[in-house]
Amino acid sequence: STGLALSAKAAGKLYFGSALDNPGLTDEPYLAILSDKNQFTQLTPANGMKWESTEPSRGVYTWTQGDAVLAVAKKNGQLLRGHTCAWHSQLPSWVTAGNFDNATLTSIMVDHCKTVVGHYKGQIYSWDVVNEAFNEDGTFRETVFYNTIGPSYISKVLHAAREADHHAKLYINDYNIDGTGAKSTGMVNLIKSLKAERAPIDGVGIQGHLIVGQVPTTIQANIEQFAALGVEVAITELDIRMELPVTPEKLAQQKEDYKNVIKACANVPACVGVTIWDYTDKYSWVPSVFDGEGAPLPWDENLVKKPAYDGIVEGFAA
Ligand code: G3I
Repeated sequence: STGLALSAKAAGKLYFGSALDNPGLTDEPYLAILSDKNQFTQLTPANGMKWESTEPSRGVYTWTQGDAVLAVAKKNGQLLRGHTCAWHSQLPSWVTAGNFDNATLTSIMVDHCKTVVGHYKGQIYSWDVVNEAFNEDGTFRETVFYNTIGPSYISKVLHAAREADHHAKLYINDYNIDGTGAKSTGMVNLIKSLKAERAPIDGVGIQGHLIVGQVPTTIQANIEQFAALGVEVAITELDIRMELPVTPEKLAQQKEDYKNVIKACANVPACVGVTIWDYTDKYSWVPSVFDGEGAPLPWDENLVKKPAYDGIVEGFAA
């Protein structure tokens, strides 16, 4: 038999995975492909473990959405990535508008992360503990955490996650760190300083939200520079969008683009796996955010495989 996860495994990777959002859980044909372990050996909740979902008001935790995704992964025997502890987006307003001082926000952030990571203790392969901490020029993004706590919020939340689950791999995750450049250099410097202070950091997550025909040529070199710091690397949210309408030419270019991204991971042993940000265009986040763009995934909205699918298989075999 064939499949994306089988291809990844043959290339020595730990998993090939997909994100899924809770509405997909009642879509039987969708769920059938998602549950096929020849295709997917790992899942990430697209929204269900985010702060606004898990602690919508202070100290009140809701596990329904995250637990539903965990249940699917458990039933199928798939690894789970947790997503995410400290992020400036999808934060409830009680956090963003709370005007907390340093000590108070630190304890809120640490409690949140300890509680969420603790709830899923022993069930998660890796956590995106910190998400999107950087500006495009490699400086730190001025989030409520950065502005109130300073750059030490990063090591503080990592320590909280480690305390809550000693076995989960702790990641820092970002977009536009696919190729080399200022933002990736910012990540390199952060990992170096975290390592120097012995903070618990295990991995760098390269989100991989890319554009057809514009995939950086330095992805492998970039993965290698992260790996050289002594961390593992994962491609965590891969999708390659195009301007609509879809044409055969764009689908062919998308296939090449997927192949090149996958090959970059396949060529570096420290790159442990790849997750696509859902597997079908039916549930992609892209059209709702980028006007006139879409079709970024290897299955179309009718759950039919696109040329990109073969690109992934070829990338792992290259
Ligand atoms: O749950 C509400 C629903 O009640 C409401 O009726 C509906 C109307 O708009 O919105 C629903 O919330 C949406 C939520 O997804 C759940 O579907 C939000 O509007 C929408 O903004 C949110 O989008 C998510 C986005 O993160 C928010 O930043 C996407 O699904 C999710 O795929 C996306 O994922 C992010 C990663 O976490 C981080 N990296 C980038 C990636 C893509 O943006």
